[in-house]
Amino acid sequence: MALEFLLRIPVLIQLAILVVCLVRREFKFRRSVPKDLPWVGKRSEWFWRIRSDVRGLFGIGERITKAYHEYSKNGKFFIISDLVTGPEVMVPVSKIPVLLAQPDEVMDTTNTHCDILQSDYTFSHPRIFRNPLQVDVVRKVLTRQIGSLVEPVMDEIAMSFDELWGFDTEGWKEILIDRDMNRVIARTLHRMLLGPDLCKNQEFIDRATTHSRTIIYCAIIIHVIPEFLKPWVQFSRPNRIGMNDFLQWQIRESLGQPDPVEHSPEIIAGRVESVNFSAIHTTQGTAMGVMLDLFSSPPEKGYVEALREEATRVLEEDGGRWTKTGVAKLIRIDSTIKESMRWKGGSARSLTRTVIKRDGFTFEDGVHIPYGFKVGTPQYAIHLDEEFYPNPKLWDPFRFSREREEFEQASRRRRGPAGDDSHADAAEPLEGPGDGNVGILRLRNEAVVSTSEKYIAWGHGRHAW
Ligand code: HEM
Repeated sequence: MALEFLLRIPVLIQLAILVVCLVRREFKFRRSVPKDLPWVGKRSEWFWRIRSDVRGLFGIGERITKAYHEYSKNGKFFIISDLVTGPEVMVPVSKIPVLLAQPDEVMDTTNTHCDILQSDYTFSHPRIFRNPLQVDVVRKVLTRQIGSLVEPVMDEIAMSFDELWGFDTEGWKEILIDRDMNRVIARTLHRMLLGPDLCKNQEFIDRATTHSRTIIYCAIIIHVIPEFLKPWVQFSRPNRIGMNDFLQWQIRESLGQPDPVEHSPEIIAGRVESVNFSAIHTTQGTAMGVMLDLFSSPPEKGYVEALREEATRVLEEDGGRWTKTGVAKLIRIDSTIKESMRWKGGSARSLTRTVIKRDGFTFEDGVHIPYGFKVGTPQYAIHLDEEFYPNPKLWDPFRFSREREEFEQASRRRRGPAGDDSHADAAEPLEGPGDGNVGILRLRNEAVVSTSEKYIAWGHGRHAW
């Protein structure tokens, strides 16, 4: 394998190759940089691009927040770069609708994902990401099947926790939160992707998770390697290893394609592998963040008890079985997840697109982004902006559920015990806070899955998932 071959090269030669790659990278982005935009971290020094990128490895959050307040808050664009994926133009919040309104032929996500993941070399076949059929299956089939997946998914989560953490409520037990969340999420995800048997096979799950992590490491290395060498350094190859699961939906979709290449087991497995990749680390990171935030919160606040009370109440109301409707009633839990994702979740940047229109793209105020350049938004800074979130640095798990809960309690009181409108003349009006139906809609939009220009943890617009 290429990686083993590389490791056998003497260290000095490896270092020399690395230096050549980095120097080459210093010149790579020079041609297409948008004119007159401030480049965050730039200093007048030799090899300033690489040096600035290396400095950016330590404290990207602080760097992006400072630039956000200096430029974005004043409606201005800026460039920020990282050592792996290179420079990207950060669009001010006021311009996000313009960014999202562009068709894929102008602002593209496919090429962006291919580039960030170096998917031509890290996945089993370039077409997996270049022609992402699996995204259609996620959007069209998975979304329709969510109702039927709730119970098996809940079972799998419960079984995983029981096996990992046990039932002892008295003694102390040391746990590895990273490893355990990984196991819970990977098993649950694979229940959905590959069915009830394979998801319980720990060896398979561990291999799938390791493989997906390897993709990230390999992508990072391949990024700095010159294009002509990349085909020689394909580090990562897929693990070659009937029911209502993603694999079956993908097989059906693939067999319906006229191109026979799509019918190959290797391509189909690669598509499932790519969904595994998209879903596993994002969800595991989120689950781990929620656990750490929740259990490091002051016990006197009673957050854990409040969440337990909600889960027990909703389960009882729904006759002891988890359903899609029941899950939708878990508004405190929903808010807690959303708050953790807002507070420290996700990456520093999001909504990344690549301009693929040959003559570039020009915003209405004249800012021109050349062909091939990336644009995106400073997610970290937007999520901590006081204008959008009062007291933004405070982790407040019920930030998004407080008003919703008050409103729903008021409307329950208004409907009366029979659940009808017999109490319609009661003093309390059925209105969302302050602005009637608009207020009700606003409250519904507080759910974790609702994205907006100020909440972009899953992206926003047609590619958010
Ligand atoms: C907390 C968990 C997750 C987070 C934070 C997350 C975040 C994201 C983000 C930021 C994007 C890019 C959106 C954009 O560019 O506008 C994305 C895309 C995507 N995600 Fe997730 N995701 C999560 C879970 C999942 C899961 C569970 C699945 C599959 C079952 C999934 C499948 C996808 C797919 C297929 C895309 C590409 C959509 C497209 O290009 O149109 N994600 N996700």
